Amino acid sequence: MAPANAATLAISNLTKSYGTVRANDGISLDVAAGEVFGLLGPNGAGKTTLVKQILGLLKPDTGTITIGGVDAVADPAAARLLCSYQPQASAPVDGVSAREAVEIVGAIRGGSRRAVRERAQVLLQSLDLSDIADRTIPMSGGMARLTGFCMAAVVPGRVVVLDEPTNDVDPLRRRALWQQIRRLADDGAAVLLVTHNVLEAERCVDRLAIVAGGAVLAAGPPGLLKAQLGAPLRLECTLDAEAVIPPLPSGVTQAARTGRRLLCSVQHSDVSKAVAWAQAAQANGMLTEFSLTAASLEDVYAKWVDSQPSAA
Ligand SMILES: Nc1ncnc2c1ncn2[C@@H]1O[C@H](COP(=O)(O)OP(=O)(O)OP(=O)(O)O)[C@@H](O)[C@H]1O
Ligand SMILES: [Mg+2]
Repeated sequence: MAPANAATLAISNLTKSYGTVRANDGISLDVAAGEVFGLLGPNGAGKTTLVKQILGLLKPDTGTITIGGVDAVADPAAARLLCSYQPQASAPVDGVSAREAVEIVGAIRGGSRRAVRERAQVLLQSLDLSDIADRTIPMSGGMARLTGFCMAAVVPGRVVVLDEPTNDVDPLRRRALWQQIRRLADDGAAVLLVTHNVLEAERCVDRLAIVAGGAVLAAGPPGLLKAQLGAPLRLECTLDAEAVIPPLPSGVTQAARTGRRLLCSVQHSDVSKAVAWAQAAQANGMLTEFSLTAASLEDVYAKWVDSQPSAA
């Protein structure tokens, strides 16, 4: 039996290759009950490959996966029963309504008729799907994605795996979706969330891993990863098309320049110097606008992913 404080999902040193492509290269991570763990990384980083191995849809080359103490590599069928899953590609829901699809999955997963009906209603309503929930016409991409989430959440497993649940979803429904993802963890599930939505994920995840080239580059709570950036603030400037950047004051360092966009990192103690520099540059016509904000998870992501050699 697993110790009481064991992670619900534990992955150790996982490797998986497709021919000569090493899609996962020694990945280790764990997710506890009550936690949303984000998996962030560029296209082709190996996220879906990892997810498929957790669900027993692919067999690892080496490494271990345990789910609720069950060895998912040796006994994928038993481990899979402990998981619910929203795949990256939305499954077509044809011939039944969204509500029927959600209730059917709930029944298959062993929920009582009444509990499933009530839970389906809560989910569909919270994601503003009530108007379309009983129609059998083809769904839009976003509606299909949201229905897929409801199918994974109606009777959640001890581990809930969501592969890019917010893709195609409009901003207001996305906000409701983040709340429902958070609630799954608050109700006790270990949630593994794959997403490209770095800024919004920051408000939902407890910890995250940044994955690129099949390996974990950095992992931890968002606050810790931001602290490791070494500069808590960012100065974002739009340059005049012709402008040569005036010399930056000490404590302000150029992080990136793309076309007319200049991004600098700034220490707390150097805020006034940074603002004075930007105001002077704006008065001289070198900057058209600037803003000073707290560093975000996007800065963490850019730091780690930009430092990677290109896959091409
Ligand atoms: N069935 C397959 N056969 C061969 N190569 C594959 C297969 N599936 C994925 N790959 C390759 O493995 C690597 C990782 O792919 P994977 O789908 O895991 O990435 P991902 O991080 O989920 O990307 P995305 O963000 O685009 O969904 C890529 O180089 C991809 O081309
Ligand atoms: Mg993927």
